[in-house]
Amino acid sequence: MTKFLNKWLRKFHRWLAVPTAILIPIIIVIKFSGNPSWQVLLKQVDKFQSPMMLILAITGAYLYLLPYIAKWQRNGRKKKALRTKQELARGHSETR
Ligand code: HEM
Repeated sequence: MTKFLNKWLRKFHRWLAVPTAILIPIIIVIKFSGNPSWQVLLKQVDKFQSPMMLILAITGAYLYLLPYIAKWQRNGRKKKALRTKQELARGHSETR
């Protein structure tokens, strides 16, 4: 499940980055142009840009945490394996 989520969230983040990267300079140009007829367009474009940035921030935060989540899961698995090994060893010594 985690592997599936990693793959698709990374893909989603990458694809959403493209329109966002195009939209940001467009918004900057419109803002600084001072052209009043373009300001109506700015309101329209701004409506898309904010949610796109929010989604990028959320998926980006997940991508950022990914190595730490993987490390945490690896450590958990290691501890479990060690515990099983110790229990098996204890079981052997008791039967002797
Ligand atoms: C605003 C909050 C954002 C955060 C916290 C964030 C965080 C991240 C993180 C942690 C990664 C993975 C880096 C790695 O593992 O090497 C990543 C990859 C990436 N980010 Fe963002 N990001 C954000 C916004 C953006 C924006 C605004 C863009 C572009 C418009 C963008 C474009 C990309 C691209 C193209 C990748 C590479 C994806 C891949 O490896 O397939 N990100 N980001």
